Amino acid sequence: MTTATAYNDKVVRQFTIMTIVWGVVGMLVGVIIAAQLLWPALNFDIPWLSYGRLRPLHTNAVIFAFGGCALFATSYYVVQRTCHARLFGGGLAAFTFWGWQVVIVLAAITLPLGLTQGKEYAELIWPIDLLITAVWVAYAIVFFGTIAIRKVKHIYVANWFFAAFILTVAVLHIVNSLALPTSMLHSYPVYSGVVDAMVQWWYGHNAVGFFLTAGFLGMMYYFVPKQAGRPIYSYRLSVVHFWALISLYMWAGPHHLHYTTLPDWAQTLGMVFSLMLLAPSWGGMINGIMTLSGAWHKLRTDPILKFLIVSLSFYGMSTFEGPMMSIKTVNALSHYTDWTIGHVHSGALGWVAMISIGSVYMLVPRLFGKEQMYSIKLIDVHFWVSTIGVVLYIASMWMAGVMQGLMWRAVNEDGTLTYTFIESIARSYPFYGVRLLGGALFLGGMLIMCVNVWRTIRGAKAAEEPVMAPAH
Ligand code: HEM
Ligand code: HEM
Repeated sequence: MTTATAYNDKVVRQFTIMTIVWGVVGMLVGVIIAAQLLWPALNFDIPWLSYGRLRPLHTNAVIFAFGGCALFATSYYVVQRTCHARLFGGGLAAFTFWGWQVVIVLAAITLPLGLTQGKEYAELIWPIDLLITAVWVAYAIVFFGTIAIRKVKHIYVANWFFAAFILTVAVLHIVNSLALPTSMLHSYPVYSGVVDAMVQWWYGHNAVGFFLTAGFLGMMYYFVPKQAGRPIYSYRLSVVHFWALISLYMWAGPHHLHYTTLPDWAQTLGMVFSLMLLAPSWGGMINGIMTLSGAWHKLRTDPILKFLIVSLSFYGMSTFEGPMMSIKTVNALSHYTDWTIGHVHSGALGWVAMISIGSVYMLVPRLFGKEQMYSIKLIDVHFWVSTIGVVLYIASMWMAGVMQGLMWRAVNEDGTLTYTFIESIARSYPFYGVRLLGGALFLGGMLIMCVNVWRTIRGAKAAEEPVMAPAH
């Protein structure tokens, strides 16, 4: 068989392996900064290892390196299978792989050096931003090109979510990164003051909505039905889910700027749209979980399905919690506290990481010509270790967060503060210990995965799967 009639799985294999590698690296940095919050001396007085520099390294590594590689791998795999076509654009797909890895390596060098634009989740300096743009445009050409040459009339719903993710991230990245360079390493944003803040959190919240949610929903719509061996619960619901989700997310950004100088009406608008977001989010979660109806027994024996279904439960939890935190009076308590960190990781670890892990376990044997993973038992161990890890992480942060919020607002009868700030830090220490344990468990699970994946692919010969004949 010639390669022209085979799916391009080389790039999928490359991205899949790097998902695991960057997952371990990003989470290791997460564990290090969690330890630094407990023992600040762990920065050894070396600027490169200081908390302020490692924290953005963690967020960039887990979101863009780990999450990004998972999204590239799964979108390339899914778009080929559902379109019955080889990836469009010849060498462009390889360019997206190598280009993205260069972006990640440059991030890993510049962030510890303290080179940053100072915008959260958009820290990278302008030359790297340009490279990201080039890679992203190539990604869009490969993805939409494949859709254009598809041999099936229908465009499966997973591709709609991937498409929205690719398009929106392009717009977000370009608009939020507009800057005037003053040197190769420094630039000023074109926006200033509250406008800069609003653009940044329009970007920030949609990074959550499209990078950390829409793309992973694309993953969910393909891998959950596949692994469950059943069609998606409701195709109609998936279409409603798609349009409602993408049209509401765009407006919710101001909930990151409650009680700031942003006009009050804009804050309220953000709150109202955030509350409405509960409906499509839960519609999607229900659609995924109900796909298993009639096949619940599979959960007993299939740890990959456990990863996928539990990730949807965490998705449901974090998208219930988010709208609640966007209510201004609730946000008055939660903002600046570890409650936000708990919310972030119930979405990031529980939803994003777990759905990616489940999908990678499905992909690896298929991509490396094996019947199944080397050890199903080890997947089960991984599942339990990481589930316990997430629960420890988020429960400790919720408790610490609510405690901090209550301590900061407590006042004596004479109007003075009941607690000093440092008292709230001291009381948070036990919770930081539990978070560190939870994070270490989650990282341990990733290491178990490395062993399992390594043993699965060792010696296996990669088989190119032929492009499927057009559906009748
Ligand atoms: C309906 C869905 C959601 C809504 C309405 C929502 C709402 C919120 C709110 C109100 C905050 C706190 C803002 C603050 O006080 O500064 C927040 C923070 C955050 N959320 Fe969500 N959330 C949702 C889902 C998710 C999901 C699924 C994830 C992850 C996959 C996520 C990731 C984050 C992150 C990373 C932050 C912290 C941003 C920062 O300050 O750096 N959210 N969210
Ligand atoms: C072993 C796993 C992990 C550990 C131990 C860990 C630990 C941490 C720590 C200690 C922080 C800083 C909290 C603070 O400043 O108070 C943090 C922030 C953050 N982490 Fe993780 N993390 C892990 C996995 C992940 C994953 C997989 C993702 C995303 C997919 C993620 C996304 C984030 C984000 C977005 C923030 C910034 C939150 C904010 O600014 O509100 N983390 N993490």
